[in-house]
Amino acid sequence: MSSHHTLLITGGAGFIGSNFVLSAIAQGHRVVNLDALTYAGNLGNLSSIESNPNHIFVQGNINDRDLVERLLSEHHPSAIVHFAAESHVDRSIAGPEAFLKTNIDGTFTLLRAARAYYESLAPEARMGFRFLHVSTDEVYGTLAPEDPAFHEKTPYAPNSPYAASKAASDMLVRAWVHTYKLPALITNCSNNYGPFQFPEKLIPLMILNALAGKPLPVYGDGQQVRDWLFVTDHCTAISAVLENGQIGETYNVGGGNQRANLDVVNTVCALLDELRPDSPFVPHGQLITYVQDRPGHDRRYAIDARKIESELGWHAAESFETGLRKTVQWYLNHPDWLDNVTSGAYQQWVTKNYAARTEAATGDYAVAPVEAGAK
Ligand code: NAD
Ligand code: TYD
Repeated sequence: MSSHHTLLITGGAGFIGSNFVLSAIAQGHRVVNLDALTYAGNLGNLSSIESNPNHIFVQGNINDRDLVERLLSEHHPSAIVHFAAESHVDRSIAGPEAFLKTNIDGTFTLLRAARAYYESLAPEARMGFRFLHVSTDEVYGTLAPEDPAFHEKTPYAPNSPYAASKAASDMLVRAWVHTYKLPALITNCSNNYGPFQFPEKLIPLMILNALAGKPLPVYGDGQQVRDWLFVTDHCTAISAVLENGQIGETYNVGGGNQRANLDVVNTVCALLDELRPDSPFVPHGQLITYVQDRPGHDRRYAIDARKIESELGWHAAESFETGLRKTVQWYLNHPDWLDNVTSGAYQQWVTKNYAARTEAATGDYAVAPVEAGAK
């Protein structure tokens, strides 16, 4: 974004949100950061801007209508960038309720407040206002090996409770554009990786476990394909859409890095072998363990990013090789961050998610019938 703005960012203490907040502050923007600090939110991600007066952190829930309305009227943002969500598929299987509350109800609360705020603005401020909804490629469902990649017109076919809740939120945003003329845009991005990702997701989990000599749990046959994007590339894509995207449009974001999970894990292991040659666990690949598959596991995601590339001139700066090396190095350089996020509640999740997945080939994985306690 070229000139300096005030942005209301939701979920700015999470993985992608905190990367975006850091870059927005570095560009001179003022950020009001609304985050509930769930297990996935971590103010440690933002310690480098702790005393920066351009960063106003507010611990609160996007479902708190009064709070959202107050923040809008007090701070007069020119954009809302909406990251806040429950984001982990396995947790959505174990406990979908929080996903519906935050991802659907929370988006509704924001849209309602954003509409009232937008309608209260003077004509010039209205022209510049944007609501950017950050979403996922998982809304499109799953691809067979030869299928073309997801494009913006691919029909929605969400398969997990997480994907369904994000699809529902995308549909609400679409309706608010169509019905109320709210100047909103949607980005649907592929799997991100990079600094500050909570180690429940594939790449940081594998790094963490490999460093500790623990099993590296590969679901099913490990041949599921994801299309990986380094997190700062996602952030530049969001900035490009905020700045130059067409109101009401959707932009698919991806780096053209399709990899099978097993290949990803092997590459992480090879990087650790190189960067930690004295570890007692070299070769780290010996730790790979096949475990029972995720129920309803989507086989392949792939993004066709030609629209954002050709219309907005956005391109990913990192290849998977450069991005993964930076990521592994970042985790090696930040043991305190890892220690901090892996205490307490994290251990309970690991016990719950992986205890049920005994090593592969011993019957179906039973989904724990748990609603509360998903965190
Ligand atoms: P994350 O789980 O790391 O962070 C989510 C953040 O939202 C946390 O800081 C959490 O405290 C906050 N939050 C959760 N519920 C809240 C609530 N009710 N009110 C206020 N704050 C709340 O997630 P992430 O990986 O950074 O993903 C951010 C967004 O990007 C999500 O909307 C996700 O669907 C989307 N996305 C993620 C990926 C990915 O690979 N991680 C890919 C595409 C899109
Ligand atoms: P994840 O990081 O949870 O992202 P998503 O489910 O949103 O794609 O998982 C990425 C892939 O890695 C997915 O196919 C599931 C798989 N996976 C494992 O094989 N083992 C694990 O321990 C985890 C967390 C994921």
